[in-house]
Parts: sequence; C-alpha cells; structure tokens
Amino acid sequence: MDAEGTSVALDEATLLADEAEYCSFGDTVHYLDPPKIFARCEGSFLYDLENRAYLDLQMWYSACNFGYANPRLNEALKRQIDTLPQLACQYLHTDRIELAAAIGRRVQQTFGMKGRVQFNVGGSQAIEDSLKIVRNASGGKSLMFAFEGGYHGRTLGASAITSSYRYRRRYGHFGDRAQFVPYPYCFRCPYGKKREDCGLYCVDQFARLFDTEYCGVWDSKVGVSEFAAFYVEAIQGTGGYVIPPPGYFEKLKQVLEERRILLVDDEIQMGFYRAGKFWAIENFGVKPDIIVFGKALTNGLNPIAGLWALEELISPDVFPPGSTHSTFSANPLGTAVALETIKLMSETDYEKITKEKGGYLLDRLRELKRRYPIIGDVDGLGMALRIEICEADGYTPSKAITDRMVDEAMKADLDVNGRRYGLVLDIGGYYKNVITLAPSLEISYEEIDLAVDLLDVLFTRVTAGR
Ligand SMILES: Cc1ncc(COP(=O)(O)O)c(C=O)c1O
Repeated sequence: MDAEGTSVALDEATLLADEAEYCSFGDTVHYLDPPKIFARCEGSFLYDLENRAYLDLQMWYSACNFGYANPRLNEALKRQIDTLPQLACQYLHTDRIELAAAIGRRVQQTFGMKGRVQFNVGGSQAIEDSLKIVRNASGGKSLMFAFEGGYHGRTLGASAITSSYRYRRRYGHFGDRAQFVPYPYCFRCPYGKKREDCGLYCVDQFARLFDTEYCGVWDSKVGVSEFAAFYVEAIQGTGGYVIPPPGYFEKLKQVLEERRILLVDDEIQMGFYRAGKFWAIENFGVKPDIIVFGKALTNGLNPIAGLWALEELISPDVFPPGSTHSTFSANPLGTAVALETIKLMSETDYEKITKEKGGYLLDRLRELKRRYPIIGDVDGLGMALRIEICEADGYTPSKAITDRMVDEAMKADLDVNGRRYGLVLDIGGYYKNVITLAPSLEISYEEIDLAVDLLDVLFTRVTAGR
C-alpha cells in the first residue's frame, strides 16, 4: 500500500524478502532457490512476473485437469458468486444435493453399488473422514494396511497411513501407523522378480500374512483380521506414477474379501480421468468399498474433497448426523464448480481423449528414451505419465540429475524455434528421480510436441559433458 492506501505492485526482490521474513516455510516445499513467483495462468501455461511463459506438465499435482482458467468452469464460479456465494454448512443447497447424487449415480452405474457421498474441503480431510467411517464400521479397529510409496495427505491421521516417516518424525504418534505393504513397482521389483513370470508373487506374500495366527494380523480361531482396511492409490501419485501390472488388484481384492478387510481407494490425484477413466481403479477391474476424491473436482477453484462409501458403511443409522463437520465443507462456490466439472466430464469423451493424447505423448517419450540412456523407464496410463531418471546405466536412480532438470526448466530459457520457455515439472518416486507428468487433459497436440521438444532441450543440457 502507498500513503493513499492504494495497492502498489511490489518488485520480485521485495516480495522474496517479505516471504523470507514473514511466511512460514512449513506449508510449502521450498524446493527452488529462490522460490518462483507466478502472476497469471491460462490453458497449459503459467506466466511469471516478467510475463515469461512456462508450459505446465504437472497442473498443480493434477488439480487442474481441465486447464488453467477454464472459461466454462470459471463462469460457473462467477454465476454462483452472484446467486448463493455463502451458506452455513448446516443448511442444504441445490448444488450440494445434485453433486452428491451425480457422483452416487456414477458409482452405481460403474460398479453397480449403492452408497452415499459426503464432502469436506481438502483431500487430507476427506481421508480423515474415511478413517472415521472405516473405524466405525469395523467396531473401532484402528489398524490399516497401506502401500510403501503411498501418499494420503499430511494431517495427523493421513500421515499415519502415508509411508514416509519424514512426515511423522517431528510430531510423535497420534494414532496407529499403517502396516506398509510393498507396492508392485515392477521396474524395481521389491522381491527382485520379473513381471513376465512373477505370478504376482507380491500378492502371495501379502496373503501369507493370513496363513496362521503367528504372522501377526489374523486370529484364525475366530477368523478375524486385526486390520480394518487397505488404503490404496490405484496408480501411485507421489510414489512416482507407478502403474500396477495386470491382475494385481483383482488378486489383492480377493485376499481382502476373504479376510473381510475394506478396500479404500484414494482417487484424490488419479481420479477424474487423469488415468484415462473417471476413477483410476476402473482400469483394474475391482470394486472399492470407499472412494476418496478431491483436487480436480473443482479444477483447482474453491476446493471440495469428499468420499463415496457403500450404504452399509455410511447410512445415517450407522454414521449419524454430525459424525464429521467442517465450516467450509460443501461450500456453495465449490459445489457449483464441481457440478459443472461433472457435467463437463459427462458431455466430453475424456476416455477417448486421454487415451489418444496420452498414447501420443507416451510414444514421443519412448523416442526420447531411445536417445537418452539416463531415461531408465517411461510409462503411462491415460494422461498420468512417468519418466524415471537414472545414471548412464539406465537403472541407478539419479536424484541429482532430476533436481537439475527441474531447476533448469524453471530458468525459462529453453529455446524451441527461436522462442524461450520454462517448463513446470514435478518430482516423485521412491528415490525422488521420477518426473511425474500430469498435463492438462485439454492440452493441444502442438503443445504436446512443444513439451517433448522442451524436454529434449533439457535432456541435452543435463547430459552435456557426461
Ligand atoms: C493420492 C493423494 N491422497 C491425498 C492427498 C492429500 O490431499 P490434500 O493435499 O488436498 O490434502 C494427495 C495430495 O497430493 C494425494 O495425491
């Protein structure tokens, strides 16, 4: 503000000095030094304070599946601002009911199961709500299975079922941490097997836990498991966009059904067509008992997350009013955008779009892999793709090269056809050596080509002299 109280655009150096002094570093990752400040966004691009363009290949960790500033979704938000922008969450409003019904019907059509939907604000909060439902339904059991490499959020309950101890280390144990089970990360099989002839040995290893009471999780006298649910991401997000092999989830689900353990499907990152289907788990032929969603439902506008659960787990008889609550859950701005997003998805063949565009991008990434030995693996399903960066042997993970790629990409000086761009990339993976690609589902083929050209320039740069 100046002396008259009008706001004055601050220069980047002043902003960064204020950030260093007044902003907690705890609520962001602070990977880049200096941190990057962006000023506007549109389509697949972010623009910095100097109006330099950055092609975004991660779209806010898949929260903006339908492109930045999507006009149709932005318009829904503006309309709602002029009608019912605020309403206490104890009252109902049309969009909230329609949204729950649309998601409920969608699950019913897809999986043939009846259930109910409830909302919260962020993904982690929806995960917390799911934990309540699971504990309640299992008579208060607090033990869960989850995957190594899995990520379910950073509130205390969600961190307990997220594999990284890093997120728990400073805060003590608030609840029971999950028992973490190896995920079928076939490029680096935890059991040293080969996908072609492993016979899904990893599921056999999990099933073995229930062979006798002495494995520690099963009371064979009464046939009861100590564990209430298995939390899964059908495709691991933060874990590096790892895609499980065919048959994996069917075989796992069989074990869970036999042992009466619920399957909780975290779709927060992979839902809403990121992986080519409305729910990523549809790719794998199993029915979840609970689905948790968030992120792209509002395309990154007013947040809404939530869950769908089987009727027997969530009916008002067993999960009565007030079981969960948050002031901003089902906020009318969020539900208006979410409902429009659901309409957009029902009117557009995203299954076809993501298959074609994702397939095209994957083919082009495979070309890059042939030319750069440091690319150990590329893979993808729908528009969730991965590039695993290694040393020159194509296998030893290289966090150093991956970090360099992300830093160089942020310099906004990658030259393609005489124009300079930046590239927004995200790092995931167990060894922090995977570039996880989540481009806008609305990205054009020209932009995909530009993305590959920019990656090409980047690979040339980081491999020079090696
Ligand atoms: C799979 C998955 N689950 C849960 C979460 C947590 O969601 P939020 O960050 O909205 O709390 C995330 C966020 O990245 C996620 O990717």
